[in-house]
Amino acid sequence: MALQRTLSILKPDATRRNLTGKINALIEGTGLKIVAQKRLQLSQAQAEAFYAVHKERPFFNDLVSFMISGPVVVQVLEGEDAVAKNREIMGATNPKDAAAHTIRAQFAESIEANSVHGSDSAENAANEIKFFFAEIEINA
Ligand code: PPS
Repeated sequence: MALQRTLSILKPDATRRNLTGKINALIEGTGLKIVAQKRLQLSQAQAEAFYAVHKERPFFNDLVSFMISGPVVVQVLEGEDAVAKNREIMGATNPKDAAAHTIRAQFAESIEANSVHGSDSAENAANEIKFFFAEIEINA
């Protein structure tokens, strides 16, 4: 399979507990390369725009409030099968259902404060990467 890119976000529960390095080690352990990374404080408008696809879901307001409750680290990951590889190491959305070796099993606090986001398709990855990064910021 050709090289693929995906967007990863380390969520406010992770930055608050200083877990960037530990989570990055698990990501890099999959063979994926972190080819762009920056730490941001999202505004409400930015978080609402990023999660617009979930606008009708009952947890939308809680999700947006949580995502602006502290800084996030946004990343571009690159490698073979990057979308699926990152989803695998992230683990299930609810940490109670996540396999033991995954980021969410090891670090997530709850279904809301679940430490990481990852694009769920190559098409969404392209759009999510464009949301946060200019091509000049992505360097393999
Ligand atoms: S996924 O990963 O998109 O398949 O998961 P999904 O269940 O569709 O959830 C989409 C995002 O919403 C978050 N989420 C919640 N936030 C707050 N409260 C509740 N109850 C809740 N349930 C799901 C979930 O963490 C997903 O966030 P992202 O950032 O996309 O991983």
